[in-house]
Amino acid sequence: MTVNNAMTADFLRSAYGGESAAHMRYLIWADVAEAEKMPNIGRLFRAIAYAEYAHADNHFRVLKDQVGDYTVASGAVFGVGKTVDNLQGAINGELHEVEQMYPVYLETARYQNEKGAEKAFHYALEAEKIHAKMFQDAQNMAKQGKDMDIGTIYVCPICGHTVADHLPDQCPICGAKKDLYKDFPA
Ligand SMILES: [Fe+2]
Ligand SMILES: [Fe+2]
Repeated sequence: MTVNNAMTADFLRSAYGGESAAHMRYLIWADVAEAEKMPNIGRLFRAIAYAEYAHADNHFRVLKDQVGDYTVASGAVFGVGKTVDNLQGAINGELHEVEQMYPVYLETARYQNEKGAEKAFHYALEAEKIHAKMFQDAQNMAKQGKDMDIGTIYVCPICGHTVADHLPDQCPICGAKKDLYKDFPA
């Protein structure tokens, strides 16, 4: 897998930067949620941080032959507030990826016939849709001063698909077998 077109390569580097920042930000916000005695929301942040790691890993590996130093421009949410506010930041970041960033990156990769990038962007786009919904569910509880009520959270290490409580036999996004999923038990 490699990249032939500069624009797709730029988008991969930008997406790598954005996913890397999201990974770290969610770990920080997990610490905040745990300090606020919301361990399940903390666990959701940790599980989704792992999914963002999988996305960064995919983008990075598609770029494996583009060796060199680059300055990377990436959108990222900043700020540390209460968990209810951090969840709004998480929702905003995921929706930006779902509604603007990944659809454009994916169309560009398709147009430029960049198969590796197309797959990496497709995986991320589909996983982020689920993340936006899960963070919204978490915020609905946090607004009432409550923790989420969820069991084990599972993350597909190939595409970042994230699901709570019931693991499918196969990943609905990438087709990976269920035993590959990483679990985040309660
Ligand atoms: Fe996400
Ligand atoms: Fe998957």
